[in-house]
Amino acid sequence: MSQTLTPPITAPRRLSLPVCNHEPQPYNGPSKAEVIATRDEYLSPALFKYYKDPLMVVEGHMQYLFDETGKRYLDGFAGIVTVSVGHCHPKVTAAVQEQVAKIQHTTTIYLHPTIGMFGKKLAEHMPTGAGLSSTYFTNSGSEANELAVLASREFTGNTDVLSLRNGYHGGTSATMQLTAHSTWKFKTNTGLPVKNGTPGYCYRCPHNLVYPSCNLKCATDIEDVISYETSGQVAMFIGECIQGVGGTIIPPKEYFKIVYDIVRKHGGLCVADEVQGGFGRTGTKFWAFENWDVTPDIVTMAKGIGNGAPLGAMTTRPEISKTLGGRIHFNTYGGNPVSMAQGLATLNVIDEENIQANALKIGGYLKQRFLELQQKHPLIGDVRGMGLMLGVELVTDRVSKNPAKAQTAAVLELARERGLLIGKGGLYGNVLRIKPPMCLTKDDADFMADCLDEVLSLVAQQPAA
Ligand SMILES: Cc1ncc(COP(=O)(O)O)c(C=O)c1O
Repeated sequence: MSQTLTPPITAPRRLSLPVCNHEPQPYNGPSKAEVIATRDEYLSPALFKYYKDPLMVVEGHMQYLFDETGKRYLDGFAGIVTVSVGHCHPKVTAAVQEQVAKIQHTTTIYLHPTIGMFGKKLAEHMPTGAGLSSTYFTNSGSEANELAVLASREFTGNTDVLSLRNGYHGGTSATMQLTAHSTWKFKTNTGLPVKNGTPGYCYRCPHNLVYPSCNLKCATDIEDVISYETSGQVAMFIGECIQGVGGTIIPPKEYFKIVYDIVRKHGGLCVADEVQGGFGRTGTKFWAFENWDVTPDIVTMAKGIGNGAPLGAMTTRPEISKTLGGRIHFNTYGGNPVSMAQGLATLNVIDEENIQANALKIGGYLKQRFLELQQKHPLIGDVRGMGLMLGVELVTDRVSKNPAKAQTAAVLELARERGLLIGKGGLYGNVLRIKPPMCLTKDDADFMADCLDEVLSLVAQQPAA
């Protein structure tokens, strides 16, 4: 699986991006070589980059990005699923500019209208009757998940925490502990007692079973995890209702209902990590959890909530939220007026411009095109996803399902050459992650599919060395 593809593939570009009337400004800043040198010298080596020749992005317009030469790219990964309504969406930019010119920072020790307005708006987007009305704002998804741990333990009086294998929940000490993904798991135990259930990953069933004769062993397994690996009393279970970093894992429809019931029987709260799946991205529903007919006790959010703002949130029921009062939990920047203005404007755009409906329509079309590509390209083992949260799993052989890791890396490189940026993920790094800004058009979707069609043909011709 450590193989690389040689020689480097170069092919004539036969595809062009859809027309865009945005002209990027001429770039007059430091050269790419200088930017790389400065980064290498002054920044942590922990920062990793995509692409053999790293991409420098200097401007963005809706679903497009521009490099320092003015070359345009279709952004199929949205800054890792973060830009929800489009880069520099004019309404969002205007709201931020207006706010930053008035006052940037207050902290929550003083009053400012935006934080309450945004909290109210988020509550209005929760399912009716769920009681999810109390929000605590943070600066990132990791912080929101940290807070969920704190709140759950405080509320239940229990300590044990459950998460799912193949999940990703952040980069702080505790959230790296919650994360149970081979690539991202923090190898040093930070002391949080976390045990992992199995995800509903039917293409690679963790129990080698087949749905529906499996009787949802992946979900019922959490009962054994609780019984044999915990004190029997649980503080919380956290799960992404569609695993993102894990490779767009869509569980069987009954999965979360079974897991939530078991966790609640053992005294635990259920936390839905909506950092990637929320804000209309699945198209069918505003929140990913709604697709599985469950109501979490706590919802954690970030990324799409603010179209690129450093903004996260934890929303829960007031009685759970109240317990944090005893902690005097304080966050200097959480709820700052600029992030609140950006979040409010983003949510307004999502509502006013029917962003969720667009994710459903264009995402459905794009998925169909990928399914057609699957008929043509043996490399495509599985196509899955909802709305504009799609995954294409590449395998060298459909029977053995051997992960096509090197081919996936080559697809990313070749797509980039042609002006398409996509992500990769999954347990073996062999899943193409397609999660663009949700303003994507049908022409963009066609370009994306045609580009992948060409690239997959080229990759298939290359011998693996
Ligand atoms: C599902 C999920 N949860 C939490 C996080 C952590 O969010 P942040 O990077 O804002 O801390 C991420 C980030 O990728 C994520 O994908």
